[in-house]
Amino acid sequence: MKMKWKVLCFLAVLILDGFLCRTMYLSYRETKETLFIPADADGEVIDDIRKQFSGEKLVALTFDDGPHSTYTKELLDGLRERGVHATFFLLGENIEGKEDIVKQMQEDGHLIGNHGLTHILMSRENTNQAIIQIEENNKKIQDITGKRPEYLRPPFGYWNDELESTTHMTVVLWNVDTLDWKLQNSRKVVRNIVKQVEPGDIILLHDIFPTSVKAALEAIDTLQKQGYTFVTVEELLVD
Ligand code: NI
Repeated sequence: MKMKWKVLCFLAVLILDGFLCRTMYLSYRETKETLFIPADADGEVIDDIRKQFSGEKLVALTFDDGPHSTYTKELLDGLRERGVHATFFLLGENIEGKEDIVKQMQEDGHLIGNHGLTHILMSRENTNQAIIQIEENNKKIQDITGKRPEYLRPPFGYWNDELESTTHMTVVLWNVDTLDWKLQNSRKVVRNIVKQVEPGDIILLHDIFPTSVKAALEAIDTLQKQGYTFVTVEELLVD
């Protein structure tokens, strides 16, 4: 009799424990999203935290220094085949004669940003001169696309507070440096991307090298299989 009670008690505890665990797990699952959000978090912080839990693996490819008459065209065709949107930071001095490529970028849904008129260190220039050059490139791009660029990538990332407070553009840097311009080896560039990439990253590439274009397309094929979705910088920052 004593033994029987012991067994019954043991079973009852097991059942109750299982029930409690399940209830706790369910409530944890329901509140998982809000669980880690600080009470004073603003909208942006909440969005960032949500993104971590949404399981979305978004990443943005950015291409500087173009357009290039051959390689940018190849890249655009490859991106279209793969249903991928990217961001192009155009160098004003490279645009002439390649207006159709810039138009194709826009038609294909890519984001077009400004990389300056020439490849100068903007923060080392006279601020007014730098701003004039930025605006001149904005106008060049707007004349083709009908839209004034909103995003700017200063060459080499050289930027300062004075420029920041004078221009009305959003500066976009990067957090994955592929060193594609230096390596000019598609295998090594693919490896640099795939090894470093994490959701939310902005990847720096240059569409003026054939090796960079090849690497970008190969990296897309690999990362799409890993569940990554490629979006423009704007989609990455706003969504
Ligand atoms: Ni550049």
